[in-house]
Amino acid sequence: MRLLVTGGCGFIGTNFVYMMLEKHPEAVIVNLDKLTYAGNRFNLLPVERQYGGSRYHFIHGDIGNAELVAHAITTHKIDAVVNFAAESHVDRSIADSTPFVLTNVLGTQTLLETARRLGVPKFVHVSTDEVYGTLGPTGKFTEETPIAPNSPYSASKASADLICRAFHETYGYAVTITRCSNNYGPYQFPEKLIPLMILKASRGESLPVYGDGMNVRDWIYVTDHCLGVELTLLKGRPGQAYNFGGNAEKPNIEVVKTILASLGKPESLISYVTDRPGHDRRYAMDYSLAQRELGFEPEVTFEQGIARTLAWYKENTDWLEQVQSGAYRAFMDTWYGERK
Ligand code: NAD
Ligand code: DAU
Repeated sequence: MRLLVTGGCGFIGTNFVYMMLEKHPEAVIVNLDKLTYAGNRFNLLPVERQYGGSRYHFIHGDIGNAELVAHAITTHKIDAVVNFAAESHVDRSIADSTPFVLTNVLGTQTLLETARRLGVPKFVHVSTDEVYGTLGPTGKFTEETPIAPNSPYSASKASADLICRAFHETYGYAVTITRCSNNYGPYQFPEKLIPLMILKASRGESLPVYGDGMNVRDWIYVTDHCLGVELTLLKGRPGQAYNFGGNAEKPNIEVVKTILASLGKPESLISYVTDRPGHDRRYAMDYSLAQRELGFEPEVTFEQGIARTLAWYKENTDWLEQVQSGAYRAFMDTWYGERK
């Protein structure tokens, strides 16, 4: 297996690279990453040290650069692409949607077209449950749920999904799509709910909860999502999208209170702030297709996952400090400054 993994220096990509190198001793991974604010090459330093130049190769670059992508595919005789690379944060897409369209739509199309043209046999595109829009108090998203994205982020991801679908229908290209719910775990950038709340609570700062705190997400531990991507790569039916979820629907306020209690911090740190515009109310995943066709089952409960996550952030305060660049601070100051 010779994989081109894009966005391997981000949160989920990093966990995926570690998992695949460990589980598949024959696997060679080429990681193409632009190293945006969310990408951190040091995440994979142990891998570079152990396998650099043999089972692991890093390429600094953009999935939208067709020449670079073609060079990576031909040089390393790639037999499958797994596309994690994306602008991934909803709030940033509200502040400026341009990078989202450039990477998530145009970048994915360029990667897909180059892989297809060069005859790469398989392409897994990592999408999201957010393409389905929002749910009321009951029901779950299935793969048949119509696509109805509400944020610039989810619209850019839905656009990429449609291009993937069209490549299968038009060219017979073996593209599969994964749609997963909210991930959490090691290496998640501290702009997303769980690591942000861990960071703020441990510093004794106020915890900004959007709206009434009753928006519901279906939390999945990151290695379970990686398992879903691996199974899709190995067994997925070309042209098919697969849902993945963690069986852990929770309102945001409950997640925040769990973090505070685990860290021994008071609930008085919670601050209700102006809601995110277009904020999806509830996500929940029906992943029975992945159970039936791929044998997928999430392995980590929310209680186990949050304990592991808290322990990881406690042990990796250096990582947490290191990723908070000037650009990070500037975005956080503006975004949260406007929501007070
Ligand atoms: P992330 O923001 O942590 O990492 C994204 C990575 O992509 C970074 O390493 C970044 O440098 C890289 N990147 C960005 N633009 C690039 C470009 N043009 N070319 C090459 N590399 C580029 O994101 P994540 O949370 O790890 O998400 C990974 C994928 O999974 C995304 O496609 C996201 O939409 C999807 N997803 C995320 C979640 C979640 O809860 N985080 C859930 C479902 C799906
Ligand atoms: O559902 C999958 C998606 O999950 C992925 O496709 C996205 O890449 C990923 O960023 C994530 O999107 P969300 O918008 O759901 O995640 P976020 O961590 O930004 O927010 C989770 C919930 O917490 C959401 O209801 C908004 C709320 N929130 C978030 C932040 C950052 C707050 O209340 N306060 C905050 O400061």
